[in-house]
Amino acid sequence: MNNTTHIWKINIQQSGWQQQLEAAALALQQGEQVAFPTETVYGLGADATSSSAVQGIFTAKGRPSDNPLIVHISNKQQLDGLVERYDGLAEQLMERFWPGPLTIVLPVKEGVLSPYVTAGLATVGIRMPNHPLALELINQANCPIAAPSANRSGRPSPTLAEHVYEDLADQIAGIVDGGATGVGLESTVVEIASQSTIRVLRPGGVTEDDLRQCCPQATILTETELQSKEAPRSPGMKYTHYAPKGQLVVVKGEDANVTAYIVEQLEQYQASERCAVLAFAEHIDDYHYAEHVISMGSMHNLEEAAASLYAALRNFDERGITRIWSEASGYDGIGAALMNRLHKAAGHDIVHV
Ligand code: TXA
Ligand code: MG
Repeated sequence: MNNTTHIWKINIQQSGWQQQLEAAALALQQGEQVAFPTETVYGLGADATSSSAVQGIFTAKGRPSDNPLIVHISNKQQLDGLVERYDGLAEQLMERFWPGPLTIVLPVKEGVLSPYVTAGLATVGIRMPNHPLALELINQANCPIAAPSANRSGRPSPTLAEHVYEDLADQIAGIVDGGATGVGLESTVVEIASQSTIRVLRPGGVTEDDLRQCCPQATILTETELQSKEAPRSPGMKYTHYAPKGQLVVVKGEDANVTAYIVEQLEQYQASERCAVLAFAEHIDDYHYAEHVISMGSMHNLEEAAASLYAALRNFDERGITRIWSEASGYDGIGAALMNRLHKAAGHDIVHV
């Protein structure tokens, strides 16, 4: 446990930024925990080969020990030392999406990684993040980096260094502050279920359409199909995530019905509770009656909603909101990941109107 958390604010537009990462890389080599930006969300990194370093992640986050961590690499050569042989489908995915927001679950090589990384599973999730600071930090640390999202367990994932600081100040050695992350939702996690089947364990930045385009020969099983038929294969799927402190309800239906329902709820609760609405920009004016409204951006640009969702959920907490109603998007593109996180944040409290 650390007393003070160092902040390395780094601007990659300025020359010499690589040198500014040396202290952070050294801390990782010494078995400390360091948060860093990726293109999805901030990660909390530690040397994946060291059990004490990895245990430090679980302690800082308050994370259940049966929830395995993703291992981050900066080049393809690192992979061979970490996993058993992988097939053509995995190769195809790596070629197309790495570096990028895709985590691939592969059979782990015995005895290389700390067993705490995999939580005792025979597989490990690997990803090569598409962020210059993350890639350079992993390069300099010169070891595979285990990194879950850098939030306290159960809080929304951090999309700004400030979010990491809110959750983990004084618990970790430092934070590499590279500004806002890009996608704003965590990577897509996939498992190669057979030579011709890709199972999506968690929807994310790489969409189902992206996967289909990359591997037209493969069958793609999605998370919603999985949920109905099988027990969770990805341990993280069974935990409630991203919950804001207030009670969040997702409202689905025709636009006019959704607005009418939310306004009716506001009329019922606003006198006695702090109420808020999470809505698309096109509908913001319909909620002028609400005291707290946060826009997710245009309903025709769900990337914007994905990038702003977690900050919005944190913002509701800061405002002491006790009840939140959220509009819903469709499931196309990044919409699948957006709705997945929103459903989880709401504890699957969904109203159809
Ligand atoms: O975008 C991301 O993936 C971010 C950034 C920091 O890279 N990381 C992230 O890590 O979201 P985390 O720990 O918050 O989520 C990892 C997810 C969990 O749901 C976990 O259960 C699943 O990946 N996972 C990890 N290893 C697995 C394995 N061997 N088999 C199945 N699921 C696995
Ligand atoms: Mg997480």
